[in-house]
Amino acid sequence: MSTTAPLLQVTDLVRHYSLPRESLFATAPQVKALNGVSFSLEAGRSLGIVGESGSGKSTIARLVMALDHPTAGSVKLLGRDLHRLPRDELRLARRDVQMVFQDPYGSLDPRQTVERIVAEPLAALAGPSGSSRAEQRERAAESLASVGLRSTDLQKYPHEFSGGQRQRIAIARALITRPKLIVADEPVSALDVSVQAQVLNLMQDLQQQFGVSYLLISHDLAVVNHLCDEVCVLHRGLVVERGAPSQLFAHAQHPYTQALLAAVPRAEPPVLA
Ligand SMILES: Nc1ncnc2c1ncn2[C@@H]1O[C@H](COP(=O)(O)OP(=O)(O)OP(=O)(O)O)[C@@H](O)[C@H]1O
Ligand SMILES: [Mg+2]
Repeated sequence: MSTTAPLLQVTDLVRHYSLPRESLFATAPQVKALNGVSFSLEAGRSLGIVGESGSGKSTIARLVMALDHPTAGSVKLLGRDLHRLPRDELRLARRDVQMVFQDPYGSLDPRQTVERIVAEPLAALAGPSGSSRAEQRERAAESLASVGLRSTDLQKYPHEFSGGQRQRIAIARALITRPKLIVADEPVSALDVSVQAQVLNLMQDLQQQFGVSYLLISHDLAVVNHLCDEVCVLHRGLVVERGAPSQLFAHAQHPYTQALLAAVPRAEPPVLA
């Protein structure tokens, strides 16, 4: 048995949200967003999480990013429980995990230049003894180049780009700390279908180039198909089925997975040329 810890190990993750009480004497109603979710991801591989709206996908993303606290369970990155790390160690651990959000319009600050946006995770890590502005600019230019944009784009603003280009900028920002893991929550859902394929292909290329792993969240099994080695199907805060995407496409066991597949308007997994 290997003694090295997996890149990401999620164990019995529970997240219940208490809603405001309707009266002084009523008990606070609870939303049971996650009810005991476990999975692990080895370095360099990618895992998809699929499920319908409200199944708990973004809750998992927030907990893996340590943007929210679990009710129970743990999230371990390279063996360290993120929710038990002292604040300064968590800040350092954030170097290894970055996020790409669904909305390429809302997730980029419209008042900041692309240079500021892309360098932001580095600046946040830097502290007083961190990298200089010139180094940050150089790294931002490198990161932009790796997603197919030019260094002349550094001084532009988000509104000067198309949706697909903005999502490339978001990916460049995620890459800048050379993370081991990128959590991508519906990264292509807001894009046209033709642009979706380009962005997914780019993510695949970057995976090969940098050895980064993805935790790819989507309501669409077809989207995770090309990027992920394994998929977990989430239903009401529980993993109801898991397996290789091709296996799920061919022989979905759980009725919920079959229903998800039936909702995909394509009979075949898409070919992302
Ligand atoms: N801060 C919160 N307070 C209360 N309930 C919440 C909170 N965040 C999420 N929820 C609830 O938890 C459940 C899971 O939400 P989550 O955002 O994880 O779903 P999702 O699978 O990402 O859905 P979508 O596909 O629509 O993005 C939902 O019922 C949601 O309303
Ligand atoms: Mg969501």
